Formats: sequence, C-alpha cells, structure tokens
Amino acid sequence: MKMTVHLPGEEYDILAGHGMAARAGEVLALNRRVLVVTDDGVPPAYAARVCEDCAHPVPVCLPAGEASKSMDGFATLLRAMTDAGFTRTDAVVAVGGGVVGDLSGFAASCYMRGVDFYNIPTTLLSQVDSSVGGKTAINFAGIKNIVGSFYQPKRVLIDPDLLDTLPPRQFSNGMAEIVKMAMTSDAGLLSLLEEEGVGPGNLLTVICRALDIKRKVVEQDEKESGLRRILNFGHTLGHGIESAEGLTDLLHGECVALGMIPMTAPALRERLCALLARFGLPTRYTGDLDRALAAVVHDKKKSGDELHYVYVSAPGQCEIRHASVPEFSAMVREAFV
Ligand SMILES: NC(=O)c1ccc[n+]([C@@H]2O[C@H](COP(=O)([O-])OP(=O)(O)OC[C@H]3O[C@@H](n4cnc5c(N)ncnc54)[C@H](O)[C@@H]3O)[C@@H](O)[C@H]2O)c1
Repeated sequence: MKMTVHLPGEEYDILAGHGMAARAGEVLALNRRVLVVTDDGVPPAYAARVCEDCAHPVPVCLPAGEASKSMDGFATLLRAMTDAGFTRTDAVVAVGGGVVGDLSGFAASCYMRGVDFYNIPTTLLSQVDSSVGGKTAINFAGIKNIVGSFYQPKRVLIDPDLLDTLPPRQFSNGMAEIVKMAMTSDAGLLSLLEEEGVGPGNLLTVICRALDIKRKVVEQDEKESGLRRILNFGHTLGHGIESAEGLTDLLHGECVALGMIPMTAPALRERLCALLARFGLPTRYTGDLDRALAAVVHDKKKSGDELHYVYVSAPGQCEIRHASVPEFSAMVREAFV
C-alpha cells in the first residue's frame, strides 16, 4: 500500500506491506554511499539486509536506548559520514525505533545541510507515529528533544513483519499511540480495535489507518502550529507522569495511556480503559500523583498561565481546552479516585 504525504513544496511516499523491508533495494535509491543506522536492541539481520542492497554501505550500530539520542550519538553519525567521504548526494537510512529514527533524521538534516533520509521503522510506535511528520531531534542538557529540525524523509518503508521480534511491552507502547489517534480522530478505528483487537490478520490495516491519521494531521499542520497539537492527546499529564517516574519505570506509551483517561469525557472513559487494558496498558496510576501534577505545572510555567490540553468529547472528536492549574488537578484527581 502506498500513501503520499503532501507538504508545501515537497512530498514523499510511505510504502507499507508485509516483506516491505526486504524490498529496500528496489524501492530506495541505494546505489551510493549509505549510512545504515541501527541499535543493538534491533535484530542485526534487519540492518544487514539493507546493507546488502547498498552500493557502499556504512553500517553504524549504537547502544539501544534513549541515551543514544544525544550529542555523542549525533557526533558518531557525522564522524562515520565524514570518515567515509560522504557528499551531498549520499544518503542515510534508519533501521530502528524512534530513537534511531529521530537521531538519524537529525544527522541527515545537518550533514552538508541535508542529505537524503530514508526511514525503516522497526517498533510499532515508530511505524505509526515518529517515522512520519519530519520531527527529528536529540536530547541535550537533560532536556528531551530540545535540539532538532523539521526534516522530511524521502521515503518511509513500513513492514509489520519486523514487529515479530518486538517485546510485548514495546508493542503495547505503540498501541497507546494508535488508541490515541483513534480516540481523537477515527471513531471507526476505535470500533475496529474494540471488535477485533489487533493480530496478524489486521495489523497492517490498523497501522495504515493510524498512519493515515498522522499523515492528514501533518499535511494540514507541518510545523505544529495548530491542528498537530491533537497528537498531544494524553501528553500533557503523560509528560508529567513521565517526569515524575524519571523516564525509566514507565514507557512513554504507558504514560500517555494514563494521561488520556482524565482527558476523556466520563461517558467514554470506560470504553477507553477497557481498550487500554486489552492492549496491556495501565489504567490506574499507582505512582505519586502530586509529583506528576507538579511536573505538569512546571512545564506550564514555561508556556504561560493556563494549561492547554486535548479533550476527547466523543469517539473520534476532540478539542483543545484550557484550564487553570487547580481545575486541571481536580479533573485528574477525580478520574483516578
Ligand atoms: N519524531 C517524532 O515525531 C516522535 C514521535 C514520538 C516519539 N518520538 C521519539 O521516539 C523515541 C521512542 O521510540 P521507540 O518507542 O520506538 O523506542 P526505541 O527506539 O528506544 O526502541 C525501543 C526498544 O526496542 C528495540 N527494538 C526496536 N525494534 C525492535 C524489533 N523489531 N525487535 C526487537 N527489538 C526492537 C530497541 O532496540 C529498543 O531497545 C523517543 O525518543 C521519542 O522522543 C519521536
């Protein structure tokens, strides 16, 4: 299946299908120097297969984990390209999750002011979310995604077969983003998830439905000045929980899952929680809610007086709402009593 992302002045294709990664040589322009970036948590065969199709592959394998999305990781990629004599016409391919994708995209955007970037995402989260939209970044000075660029890939290859090796918790992590997109934008997808769940028979369909939502949002708001904020459903509180948990205990998707619950109309909350539970995501927050709310307020101080959040009022329908800190805190507490 092919989806085209149309942006002002450029467009690119997302090619999705079983076995798509093995077709990299056919559908990507690899007859040049190609930096093939992966991490040591991704099965090595995935990047090795891509290297086989490159005229001059330059493989780089980083340590798995968020710590690689750093100035050091960035320097490693730039060094590999300069050492191999990359020119403006060479390319970078990411074969990994959001960490590898965000870092590789950023390096591709900076090397000689931009070389071609292809993304072959290998986690569910990166297949439905981070690989599309052109947000690239590294973490710096202890702040997540603080240095980065908008830089669109030339092509994205989505292969659900790569997810066969993904640990179940990482799969659930990606499901949180799919539920998020269904809740805000696609009542039909929400019903499909409730009726069928997700399995080998419909995984590609579910991924493509979620990707299509992301594509449409990005097309209407490439630089995140308006509509794209709906992708932040569950993230205002979710980020607070993430900070309170110290980035290690709960995965991002698990924090987003919890963050969606209070921001959903009470009549719909039961359905949301049933779906989250079905996909192995938490529905009760057992951590320190005061700390999480304090972290939300800390974020708020940087951005103004009121908290802005995405609220889902009915399946597939959402709006941006504003609240004072006490109002927001009361809403969260009420949902978790
Ligand atoms: N650019 C964006 O728009 C955007 C959107 C959402 C998230 N992000 C970023 O994405 C990152 C998180 O991405 P993620 O959730 O993919 O995490 P990740 O890249 O850290 O991958 C999670 C783990 O899964 C392993 N892994 C990857 N593919 C595998 C496979 N097929 N089989 C077995 N193991 C595999 C990795 O080695 C890693 O240990 C964060 O840095 C976040 O900021 C970016």
